[in-house]
Amino acid sequence: MYLTHLSLTNFRNFTRLDMDIPRRVVLLVGSNATGKTSLLEAVYFLAAFTSFQTHVDRQLVNFIEAKKPLAVGRLVAEYRRGPSAHRLEVRLILEPTGVNGQRLRKEIILDGNKRPLSDVIGHFNAVVFVPQMTQIVESGPEERRRYLNLALAQTIPSYAQTLNEYTQALTQRNALLKLLNERGGDQSQLAFWDETITRSGASIILARISAVQEIEKLAARVHQTLTRRQEVLRLNYLPAYDPLPRPPRQIAMPLNTAVDRSMLTLEEIRQGFLRRLGQVRSEEIARGVTTLGPHRDELRFLANGIDLSDYGSRGQVRTTLLALKLAEIEWMKARTGQWPVLLLDEVLAELDTQRRADLLAYLENIEQALFTTTDLKLFTPEFVERATKWEVHAGEVRH
Ligand SMILES: Nc1ncnc2c1ncn2[C@@H]1O[C@H](COP(=O)(O)OP(=O)(O)O)[C@@H](O)[C@H]1O
Ligand SMILES: [Mg+2]
Repeated sequence: MYLTHLSLTNFRNFTRLDMDIPRRVVLLVGSNATGKTSLLEAVYFLAAFTSFQTHVDRQLVNFIEAKKPLAVGRLVAEYRRGPSAHRLEVRLILEPTGVNGQRLRKEIILDGNKRPLSDVIGHFNAVVFVPQMTQIVESGPEERRRYLNLALAQTIPSYAQTLNEYTQALTQRNALLKLLNERGGDQSQLAFWDETITRSGASIILARISAVQEIEKLAARVHQTLTRRQEVLRLNYLPAYDPLPRPPRQIAMPLNTAVDRSMLTLEEIRQGFLRRLGQVRSEEIARGVTTLGPHRDELRFLANGIDLSDYGSRGQVRTTLLALKLAEIEWMKARTGQWPVLLLDEVLAELDTQRRADLLAYLENIEQALFTTTDLKLFTPEFVERATKWEVHAGEVRH
């Protein structure tokens, strides 16, 4: 798929922007703080409905506009998905709460109809690659779960909806566990929430098992090329509730063991998860919190058996992330039949000449990529020649 038009109103430093976008490669060139990253952020927001820069959506609304009692930021993408053309609009509405605050409400409109987020996610797809994403490898498990959730929500129908159900049920279950912990009471009330979180939880675990396995296969192949066959990359999914029975007397699996969970069925996972919750019930009441489930899952990256989160060098982490991102694109294409739009924010500066060439060669496949850079010299002259080049100046794009 590819964007044909982007229009922004009061999004970051763009008070008003309207631009047609050609297919293939667009280079957005500009000095610092002109709005290059914000442009990619806007496009990504239309795919993921969240930012890769902030968890606070209100920061996206132009800050002068946001001072008004009622402020609206607006993002509109027109794009082609296979043979059909679509229009997707997101409104970020900052409205007064009454008690001298503001709250942000998101409205999503696809082809003229207001729709819930979980319905629309996956209709327009984008993969983003920014240097700070090495956090996926280097930071805590939360970043990796967020990464997985965002990639899966765009790709697997109903994943976002199931994740919502799980998260809501988890909140309720935790509240009940806390109550039982503090005041005691009838534990049988937990049965309902156990049923609910294991139903949605099992779907999430199953989706993660197959997704990680598929992405791993693709990422390992790219990674081999990038490392000139020096390293073997592995993605190790470690579900907090692991549906696979552990070998007897083994408390923890060695991290480097390849574990194949692909033969498990949804029903097996659900039943096993439910049984396990029964076994840990008193412990969970004592702690007042749900200790098992997809909200505690881990994903580890290993190169030649070494855990990159703990021991990866800068270079290894960068190469792994590049492999992961390129794999994600291919995976989305394989699953959805559509190439996602690729967004790359000043990544070339971070890569050595060889990796840069590998990345640029890879772009031949996809339908559209938006690059930002402060320096065109990072690209080969042939590449610059073939790409569409636009200049970004404070809140404005010039052709
Ligand atoms: N909510 C906002 N309203 C207005 N301006 C903003 C907002 N958020 C960030 N900015 C400003 O937008 C400018 C562009 O930022 P950015 O997109 O990161 O630039 P670049 O990637 O080109 O360096 C910065 O000067 C930043 O301070
Ligand atoms: Mg930037």
